[in-house]
Amino acid sequence: MDVSIFADAGEASSALASRVAELLRRIPALVLGLPAGRTPIATYTELCRLHAAGEADFSQATVFLLDEFVGLDASHSGSFRRFVGQHLLSGINVDPERVHSLDGLASDPGVECERYEEAIAACGGLNLLLLGIGVNGHVGFNEPGQTLNARTHRTVLLEETRAENASLFGGAQNRVPREALSIGMGAILRADTIVMIATGERKASAVAGMVRGPLTTQLPASFLQLHRRVEVYLDRAAATAL
Ligand code: GLP
Repeated sequence: MDVSIFADAGEASSALASRVAELLRRIPALVLGLPAGRTPIATYTELCRLHAAGEADFSQATVFLLDEFVGLDASHSGSFRRFVGQHLLSGINVDPERVHSLDGLASDPGVECERYEEAIAACGGLNLLLLGIGVNGHVGFNEPGQTLNARTHRTVLLEETRAENASLFGGAQNRVPREALSIGMGAILRADTIVMIATGERKASAVAGMVRGPLTTQLPASFLQLHRRVEVYLDRAAATAL
C-alpha cells in the first residue's frame, strides 16, 4: 500500500481531492465509488471548490454510492444518499442520471443487490474507489465477522457501527437502522484504483491492521492488501500505530 502521512486532516483531504481531480482530468468518464461518513466531508468540500474553480469537471463521470441503510428512502435525513448529495453531489456537475445508489426501501433487497452488482458491471467496474474505514475496520458496510461477502449484500450492522452512525440520527443509536445494503469485497477489490482516507487517533488501530495486520475477516480492510493500487491518505494521528 502506498501510505502518505499528512500534518493534519485538512492537508490529507486536500491532497486526496487533488488526486481525484487529477484522475478526472485524465479519465473524464470516470466511474467513481463514493462513501458516506464524516471523514470524507472535507474532501468533498474541496472537490466542490475545485469544481467551482473549473478544475474538476464531473459532467461525464458516473457515481456509485457504496452503501445504504435498509428502511430509509433517499430523502431521509439519515440516508447516505442524502448525505453524499448534501456534501458533494449538490456542489458538482455530475448528471443525476449517472448517480447510482442502493434503494433502502427495495421490497426485495436480494433483487436490489443483484441489480446494483449488474449496474456496476455494466459500467465496466469502478475506476476509482474512495473509501473510509470504520473504527472496527469495516469498509462500506462490510462488517467484521466469520465471513465476508464478495457480492453486494444485505448485512446486519454491529452495535458499535450503529453507535458510530448515531450522529446522523440526532445522536440516538436506537434510531439507527439495524441493517444495511453494501457493495461487497469483490467490487471493492476489482476497482482499478483505491484511495482510502483515515483521520484521527480513533482510526489508528484499524489503519495499522489494514496496512500491516494479517488478512482476516475480523478486519475487512486488511483485504485491501490484496489490491495492487491502494493509496492511503492519513493524518499523523491516524498513523500513530503504524
Ligand atoms: C460508515 C460507512 C463507511 C465509512 C465509515 C467511517 O458507517 N459505512 O463507508 O467509511 O463508517 O465513517 P466516519 O468517517 O464517519 O468515521
